[in-house]
Amino acid sequence: MLWIMRFSGFFSAAMVMIVLFPSLQSFPPAEAIRSSHVDSHHKFFTSSHSFGKFPFRKAPAFHNADECRSSTLEKSSVCDPSLIHVAITLDVEYLRGSIAAVHSILQHSKCPESVFLHFLVGETGLETLVRSTFPELKFRVYYFDPERVRSLISSSVRQALEQPLNYARNYLADLLEPCVTRVIYLDSDLVVVDDISKLWSTSLGGKTIGAPEYCHANFTKYFTEYFWLNSRFSGVFSGRNPCYFNTGVMVMDLGSWRRFGYTRRIERWMEIQKTSISRIYELGSLPPFLLVFAGNVAPIEHRWNQHGLGGDNVRGSCRNLHPGPVSLLHWSGSGKPWLRLDSKQPCPLDSLWAPFDLYRHST
Ligand SMILES: *[C@@H]1O[C@H](CO)[C@@H](O)[C@H](O)[C@H]1NC(C)=O
Repeated sequence: MLWIMRFSGFFSAAMVMIVLFPSLQSFPPAEAIRSSHVDSHHKFFTSSHSFGKFPFRKAPAFHNADECRSSTLEKSSVCDPSLIHVAITLDVEYLRGSIAAVHSILQHSKCPESVFLHFLVGETGLETLVRSTFPELKFRVYYFDPERVRSLISSSVRQALEQPLNYARNYLADLLEPCVTRVIYLDSDLVVVDDISKLWSTSLGGKTIGAPEYCHANFTKYFTEYFWLNSRFSGVFSGRNPCYFNTGVMVMDLGSWRRFGYTRRIERWMEIQKTSISRIYELGSLPPFLLVFAGNVAPIEHRWNQHGLGGDNVRGSCRNLHPGPVSLLHWSGSGKPWLRLDSKQPCPLDSLWAPFDLYRHST
Protein backbone atom coordinates (compact mmCIF):
# COMPACT_ATOMS: atom_id res chain seq x y z
CA MET A 1 0.00 0.00 0.00
CA LEU A 2 2.77 2.32 0.99
CA TRP A 3 4.28 1.51 -2.32
CA ILE A 4 1.23 2.53 -4.31
CA MET A 5 1.06 5.80 -2.40
CA ARG A 6 4.66 6.48 -3.18
CA PHE A 7 4.15 5.97 -6.86
CA SER A 8 1.02 7.99 -7.15
CA GLY A 9 2.96 10.71 -5.29
CA PHE A 10 5.74 10.36 -7.75
CA PHE A 11 3.45 10.69 -10.72
CA SER A 12 1.70 13.77 -9.47
CA ALA A 13 5.13 15.24 -8.74
CA ALA A 14 6.18 14.35 -12.26
CA MET A 15 3.10 16.08 -13.65
CA VAL A 16 3.88 19.19 -11.62
CA MET A 17 7.41 19.12 -12.99
CA ILE A 18 6.15 18.88 -16.54
CA VAL A 19 3.73 21.74 -16.02
CA LEU A 20 6.32 23.93 -14.32
CA PHE A 21 9.16 23.09 -16.64
CA PRO A 22 7.72 22.77 -20.12
CA SER A 23 11.19 22.13 -21.50
CA LEU A 24 10.89 18.63 -20.05
CA GLN A 25 8.33 17.93 -22.71
CA SER A 26 10.82 18.30 -25.48
CA PHE A 27 13.85 16.21 -26.12
CA PRO A 28 16.72 17.42 -23.93
CA PRO A 29 19.97 18.27 -25.66
CA ALA A 30 22.03 15.12 -25.71
CA GLU A 31 25.19 17.19 -25.84
CA ALA A 32 24.35 18.85 -22.55
CA ILE A 33 24.15 15.46 -20.90
CA ARG A 34 27.44 14.47 -22.33
CA SER A 35 29.28 17.62 -21.44
CA SER A 36 28.05 17.61 -17.85
CA HIS A 37 29.32 14.07 -17.69
CA VAL A 38 32.73 15.04 -19.01
CA ASP A 39 32.91 18.01 -16.64
CA SER A 40 32.27 15.88 -13.60
CA HIS A 41 34.80 13.40 -14.90
CA HIS A 42 37.38 16.12 -15.16
CA LYS A 43 36.58 17.48 -11.71
CA PHE A 44 36.76 14.02 -10.22
CA PHE A 45 40.18 13.22 -11.56
CA THR A 46 41.54 16.64 -10.75
CA SER A 47 40.35 16.48 -7.17
CA SER A 48 41.44 12.88 -6.75
CA HIS A 49 44.89 14.05 -7.78
CA SER A 50 45.19 16.01 -4.58
CA PHE A 51 45.23 12.71 -2.69
CA GLY A 52 48.38 11.83 -4.59
CA LYS A 53 46.83 8.41 -5.27
CA PHE A 54 43.47 6.86 -5.96
CA PRO A 55 40.42 8.27 -4.23
CA PHE A 56 39.49 4.89 -2.76
CA ARG A 57 41.12 2.90 0.02
CA LYS A 58 42.19 -0.65 -0.66
CA ALA A 59 39.45 -3.08 0.37
CA PRO A 60 40.36 -5.68 3.01
CA ALA A 61 41.67 -8.96 1.54
CA PHE A 62 39.04 -11.68 1.10
CA HIS A 63 39.45 -15.46 0.85
CA ASN A 64 37.36 -18.48 0.10
CA ALA A 65 36.16 -20.70 2.92
CA ASP A 66 37.46 -24.29 2.81
CA GLU A 67 34.25 -25.76 1.42
CA CYS A 68 34.27 -23.55 -1.70
CA ARG A 69 34.63 -25.57 -4.85
CA SER A 70 36.65 -24.43 -7.77
CA SER A 71 37.27 -26.28 -10.98
CA THR A 72 40.99 -26.74 -11.47
CA LEU A 73 40.71 -26.92 -15.24
CA GLU A 74 39.73 -23.39 -16.15
CA LYS A 75 40.89 -21.65 -13.02
CA SER A 76 41.31 -17.91 -13.43
CA SER A 77 39.43 -18.02 -16.73
CA VAL A 78 36.14 -16.20 -17.11
CA CYS A 79 34.74 -19.51 -18.43
CA ASP A 80 35.33 -21.37 -15.15
CA PRO A 81 31.88 -22.90 -14.49
CA SER A 82 32.18 -22.45 -10.71
CA LEU A 83 32.18 -18.65 -11.00
CA ILE A 84 29.38 -16.31 -9.98
CA HIS A 85 29.07 -13.55 -12.57
CA VAL A 86 27.99 -10.09 -11.52
CA ALA A 87 27.63 -7.11 -13.87
CA ILE A 88 27.56 -3.50 -12.70
CA THR A 89 28.20 -0.15 -14.35
CA LEU A 90 31.07 2.11 -13.39
CA ASP A 91 30.82 5.79 -14.09
CA VAL A 92 32.12 8.82 -12.36
CA GLU A 93 28.87 9.94 -10.78
CA TYR A 94 28.03 6.55 -9.27
CA LEU A 95 31.59 5.28 -8.83
CA ARG A 96 31.47 5.50 -5.05
CA GLY A 97 28.24 3.51 -5.08
CA SER A 98 29.59 0.81 -7.41
CA ILE A 99 32.73 0.38 -5.31
CA ALA A 100 30.64 0.08 -2.12
CA ALA A 101 28.36 -2.47 -3.83
CA VAL A 102 31.32 -4.66 -4.83
CA HIS A 103 32.80 -4.32 -1.35
CA SER A 104 29.50 -5.43 0.20
CA ILE A 105 29.27 -8.48 -2.09
CA LEU A 106 32.79 -9.66 -1.27
CA GLN A 107 32.34 -9.09 2.43
CA HIS A 108 29.21 -11.25 2.63
CA SER A 109 30.31 -14.07 0.31
CA LYS A 110 31.45 -17.37 1.69
CA CYS A 111 33.38 -17.84 -1.57
CA PRO A 112 34.43 -14.32 -2.57
CA GLU A 113 37.20 -15.62 -4.84
CA SER A 114 34.48 -17.25 -6.95
CA VAL A 115 32.84 -13.91 -7.74
CA PHE A 116 33.69 -12.49 -11.16
CA LEU A 117 32.82 -8.83 -11.77
CA HIS A 118 31.91 -7.52 -15.21
CA PHE A 119 32.24 -3.73 -15.16
CA LEU A 120 30.45 -1.77 -17.87
CA VAL A 121 32.09 1.59 -18.52
CA GLY A 122 31.42 4.51 -20.83
CA GLU A 123 34.89 5.95 -20.54
CA THR A 124 38.39 4.63 -20.12
CA GLY A 125 40.71 4.95 -17.14
CA LEU A 126 38.71 3.20 -14.42
CA GLU A 127 40.40 -0.18 -14.68
CA THR A 128 43.49 0.76 -12.66
CA LEU A 129 41.26 2.28 -10.02
CA VAL A 130 39.38 -1.02 -9.61
CA ARG A 131 42.64 -2.93 -9.51
CA SER A 132 44.08 -0.71 -6.80
CA THR A 133 40.93 -0.93 -4.69
CA PHE A 134 40.37 -4.69 -5.07
CA PRO A 135 43.86 -6.14 -5.83
CA GLU A 136 42.71 -9.77 -5.90
CA LEU A 137 39.35 -9.35 -7.59
CA LYS A 138 38.57 -11.31 -10.75
CA PHE A 139 37.10 -8.82 -13.16
CA ARG A 140 36.86 -7.54 -16.69
CA VAL A 141 36.03 -4.08 -17.96
CA TYR A 142 33.78 -3.65 -21.00
CA TYR A 143 33.49 -0.42 -22.91
CA PHE A 144 29.88 0.39 -23.73
CA ASP A 145 29.73 2.85 -26.60
CA PRO A 146 27.17 5.54 -25.68
CA GLU A 147 26.52 6.06 -29.39
CA ARG A 148 24.93 2.64 -29.51
CA VAL A 149 21.85 3.94 -27.69
CA ARG A 150 22.07 7.71 -27.87
CA SER A 151 19.66 8.00 -30.77
CA LEU A 152 17.22 5.64 -29.04
CA ILE A 153 17.01 7.46 -25.72
CA SER A 154 14.00 9.66 -25.08
CA SER A 155 13.74 12.20 -22.29
CA SER A 156 12.37 11.16 -18.91
CA VAL A 157 11.41 12.69 -15.59
CA ARG A 158 14.97 12.61 -14.25
CA GLN A 159 18.06 13.37 -16.26
CA ALA A 160 20.05 10.63 -14.51
CA LEU A 161 17.66 8.13 -16.08
CA GLU A 162 18.77 9.23 -19.55
CA GLN A 163 22.45 8.34 -19.13
CA PRO A 164 23.46 5.95 -21.93
CA LEU A 165 25.12 3.64 -19.40
CA ASN A 166 21.68 2.99 -17.88
CA TYR A 167 20.91 1.09 -21.05
CA ALA A 168 24.06 -1.07 -20.97
CA ARG A 169 22.14 -3.82 -19.16
CA ASN A 170 20.21 -4.41 -22.40
CA TYR A 171 23.47 -5.37 -24.11
CA LEU A 172 25.02 -7.77 -21.58
CA ALA A 173 24.32 -10.75 -23.82
CA ASP A 174 26.41 -9.13 -26.58
CA LEU A 175 29.13 -7.67 -24.38
CA LEU A 176 29.97 -10.64 -22.17
CA GLU A 177 31.84 -13.72 -23.36
CA PRO A 178 29.61 -16.42 -24.91
CA CYS A 179 30.69 -18.90 -22.19
CA VAL A 180 28.96 -16.66 -19.62
CA THR A 181 25.37 -17.87 -19.72
CA ARG A 182 24.04 -16.42 -16.47
CA VAL A 183 24.72 -13.06 -14.87
CA ILE A 184 23.38 -11.05 -11.97
CA TYR A 185 22.89 -7.42 -12.99
CA LEU A 186 23.07 -4.88 -10.16
CA ASP A 187 22.54 -1.15 -10.05
CA SER A 188 25.27 1.04 -8.52
CA ASP A 189 23.20 2.44 -5.65
CA LEU A 190 22.80 -0.68 -3.54
CA VAL A 191 24.58 -2.91 -1.06
CA VAL A 192 24.27 -6.68 -0.69
CA VAL A 193 24.04 -7.86 2.92
CA ASP A 194 23.75 -11.60 2.30
CA ASP A 195 25.69 -14.24 0.38
CA ILE A 196 25.20 -13.48 -3.31
CA SER A 197 25.55 -17.20 -4.11
CA LYS A 198 21.96 -17.60 -2.82
CA LEU A 199 20.68 -15.17 -5.42
CA TRP A 200 22.91 -16.79 -8.03
CA SER A 201 21.46 -20.26 -7.50
CA THR A 202 17.82 -19.12 -7.77
CA SER A 203 15.92 -21.16 -10.32
CA LEU A 204 14.51 -19.18 -13.22
CA GLY A 205 12.13 -22.00 -14.11
CA GLY A 206 12.80 -21.60 -17.82
CA LYS A 207 12.31 -17.82 -17.85
CA THR A 208 14.98 -15.54 -19.28
CA ILE A 209 15.09 -13.10 -16.39
CA GLY A 210 14.27 -13.23 -12.70
CA ALA A 211 13.46 -10.28 -10.44
CA PRO A 212 11.24 -9.49 -7.46
CA GLU A 213 7.78 -8.63 -8.84
CA TYR A 214 5.26 -6.17 -7.38
CA CYS A 215 1.86 -7.26 -8.62
CA HIS A 216 -0.16 -4.92 -6.38
CA ALA A 217 1.42 -1.85 -8.01
CA ASN A 218 -0.75 -0.06 -10.58
CA PHE A 219 0.86 -1.23 -13.79
CA THR A 220 -1.28 1.10 -15.95
CA LYS A 221 0.75 4.07 -14.79
CA TYR A 222 3.96 2.99 -16.47
CA PHE A 223 2.49 3.69 -19.90
CA THR A 224 0.61 6.58 -21.41
CA GLU A 225 -3.04 6.76 -22.33
CA TYR A 226 -1.95 6.80 -25.97
CA PHE A 227 -0.28 3.44 -25.41
CA TRP A 228 -3.32 1.84 -23.75
CA LEU A 229 -5.73 3.19 -26.37
CA ASN A 230 -3.73 1.66 -29.22
CA SER A 231 -4.22 -2.07 -29.23
CA ARG A 232 -1.32 -2.53 -31.62
CA PHE A 233 0.84 -1.44 -28.64
CA SER A 234 -1.10 -2.60 -25.58
CA GLY A 235 -1.93 -5.90 -27.27
CA VAL A 236 1.59 -6.92 -26.33
CA PHE A 237 0.26 -7.69 -22.84
CA SER A 238 -2.70 -9.80 -23.95
CA GLY A 239 -2.52 -13.25 -22.44
CA ARG A 240 0.02 -12.02 -19.90
CA ASN A 241 -0.42 -10.93 -16.29
CA PRO A 242 2.11 -8.10 -16.26
CA CYS A 243 3.53 -6.85 -12.97
CA TYR A 244 5.97 -4.08 -12.22
CA PHE A 245 9.53 -5.14 -11.43
CA ASN A 246 12.63 -3.08 -10.74
CA THR A 247 15.43 -3.60 -13.29
CA GLY A 248 18.14 -2.74 -10.75
CA VAL A 249 18.45 -6.34 -9.57
CA MET A 250 18.02 -9.07 -12.16
CA VAL A 251 19.22 -12.60 -12.68
CA MET A 252 19.58 -13.06 -16.43
CA ASP A 253 19.87 -16.23 -18.50
CA LEU A 254 22.14 -14.90 -21.22
CA GLY A 255 21.94 -18.11 -23.23
CA SER A 256 18.20 -17.77 -23.59
CA TRP A 257 18.52 -13.99 -24.09
CA ARG A 258 20.85 -14.57 -27.03
CA ARG A 259 18.67 -17.28 -28.53
CA PHE A 260 15.51 -15.15 -28.46
CA GLY A 261 17.21 -11.88 -29.44
CA TYR A 262 15.81 -9.81 -26.58
CA THR A 263 18.20 -6.93 -27.15
CA ARG A 264 16.60 -6.26 -30.50
CA ARG A 265 13.10 -6.57 -29.05
CA ILE A 266 13.90 -3.91 -26.44
CA GLU A 267 15.41 -1.66 -29.08
CA ARG A 268 12.26 -1.95 -31.19
CA TRP A 269 10.14 -0.53 -28.38
CA MET A 270 12.61 2.30 -27.93
CA GLU A 271 12.31 3.05 -31.64
CA ILE A 272 8.51 3.11 -31.35
CA GLN A 273 8.76 5.55 -28.44
CA LYS A 274 10.98 7.84 -30.55
CA THR A 275 9.02 7.66 -33.77
CA SER A 276 5.34 7.38 -32.82
CA ILE A 277 3.30 10.59 -32.88
CA SER A 278 2.90 10.51 -29.10
CA ARG A 279 5.01 8.99 -26.33
CA ILE A 280 4.11 5.52 -25.09
CA TYR A 281 5.84 5.93 -21.69
CA GLU A 282 7.50 8.58 -19.53
CA LEU A 283 10.35 6.84 -17.71
CA GLY A 284 13.77 5.86 -19.09
CA SER A 285 15.15 2.35 -19.49
CA LEU A 286 12.47 0.59 -17.40
CA PRO A 287 9.36 0.64 -19.66
CA PRO A 288 10.97 -1.18 -22.62
CA PHE A 289 11.98 -3.90 -20.16
CA LEU A 290 8.42 -4.11 -18.86
CA LEU A 291 7.09 -4.31 -22.41
CA VAL A 292 9.29 -7.27 -23.25
CA PHE A 293 9.32 -9.17 -19.95
CA ALA A 294 6.48 -8.16 -17.59
CA GLY A 295 4.31 -11.19 -16.91
CA ASN A 296 7.13 -13.44 -17.99
CA VAL A 297 9.56 -12.96 -15.13
CA ALA A 298 10.74 -15.60 -12.68
CA PRO A 299 9.75 -14.26 -9.26
CA ILE A 300 12.64 -13.72 -6.86
CA GLU A 301 12.19 -13.15 -3.13
CA HIS A 302 11.59 -9.51 -2.24
CA ARG A 303 14.45 -9.56 0.23
CA TRP A 304 16.77 -9.26 -2.79
CA ASN A 305 15.54 -5.80 -3.72
CA GLN A 306 14.49 -3.62 -0.81
CA HIS A 307 14.22 -0.68 -3.18
CA GLY A 308 13.07 2.93 -3.00
CA LEU A 309 15.46 4.00 -0.22
CA GLY A 310 16.48 7.02 -2.31
CA GLY A 311 12.95 8.42 -2.16
CA ASP A 312 11.07 9.58 -5.24
CA ASN A 313 12.51 10.77 -8.54
CA VAL A 314 12.15 14.43 -7.66
CA ARG A 315 12.87 15.12 -4.01
CA GLY A 316 14.72 12.07 -2.70
CA SER A 317 12.96 11.95 0.67
CA CYS A 318 13.70 9.36 3.38
CA ARG A 319 12.04 5.96 3.10
CA ASN A 320 11.58 2.97 5.33
CA LEU A 321 12.23 -0.66 4.57
CA HIS A 322 9.37 -2.77 3.30
CA PRO A 323 8.31 -5.45 5.77
CA GLY A 324 10.20 -8.74 5.62
CA PRO A 325 13.80 -9.94 5.56
CA VAL A 326 16.56 -7.99 3.82
CA SER A 327 19.37 -9.34 1.65
CA LEU A 328 19.92 -6.24 -0.49
CA LEU A 329 19.33 -2.54 0.18
CA HIS A 330 18.68 -0.38 -2.87
CA TRP A 331 18.70 3.43 -2.86
CA SER A 332 16.63 3.75 -6.04
CA GLY A 333 15.07 7.17 -6.46
CA SER A 334 16.94 10.43 -6.61
CA GLY A 335 18.48 10.48 -3.09
CA LYS A 336 21.85 8.76 -2.84
CA PRO A 337 23.38 7.81 0.52
CA TRP A 338 26.88 9.15 -0.24
CA LEU A 339 25.53 12.56 -1.19
CA ARG A 340 23.24 12.75 1.85
CA LEU A 341 26.03 11.58 4.20
CA ASP A 342 28.43 14.17 2.73
CA SER A 343 25.86 16.92 3.12
CA LYS A 344 25.43 15.91 6.80
CA GLN A 345 21.73 15.35 6.19
CA PRO A 346 21.53 11.56 5.97
CA CYS A 347 18.38 9.52 6.21
CA PRO A 348 18.34 6.97 9.05
CA LEU A 349 18.92 4.00 6.70
CA ASP A 350 21.91 5.67 5.03
CA SER A 351 23.96 4.48 8.01
CA LEU A 352 23.53 0.95 6.62
CA TRP A 353 25.36 1.99 3.44
CA ALA A 354 28.25 3.80 5.16
CA PRO A 355 30.22 0.71 6.35
CA PHE A 356 30.84 -0.29 2.71
CA ASP A 357 32.07 3.11 1.58
CA LEU A 358 35.74 3.02 0.58
CA TYR A 359 36.05 6.67 -0.39
CA ARG A 360 39.15 8.12 1.23
CA HIS A 361 37.70 11.15 2.93
CA SER A 362 35.24 8.96 4.85
CA THR A 363 36.26 7.04 7.93
C1 LIG B 1 -4.26 3.01 -12.11
O1 LIG B 1 -3.74 4.13 -12.81
C2 LIG B 1 -4.58 4.62 -13.84
C3 LIG B 1 -3.81 5.68 -14.62
O2 LIG B 1 -3.19 6.60 -13.76
C4 LIG B 1 -5.88 5.12 -13.23
O3 LIG B 1 -6.72 5.61 -14.24
C5 LIG B 1 -6.55 3.97 -12.48
O4 LIG B 1 -7.69 4.42 -11.84
C6 LIG B 1 -5.59 3.35 -11.47
N1 LIG B 1 -6.18 2.16 -10.90
C7 LIG B 1 -6.21 1.91 -9.60
C8 LIG B 1 -6.83 0.62 -9.20
O5 LIG B 1 -5.75 2.66 -8.77
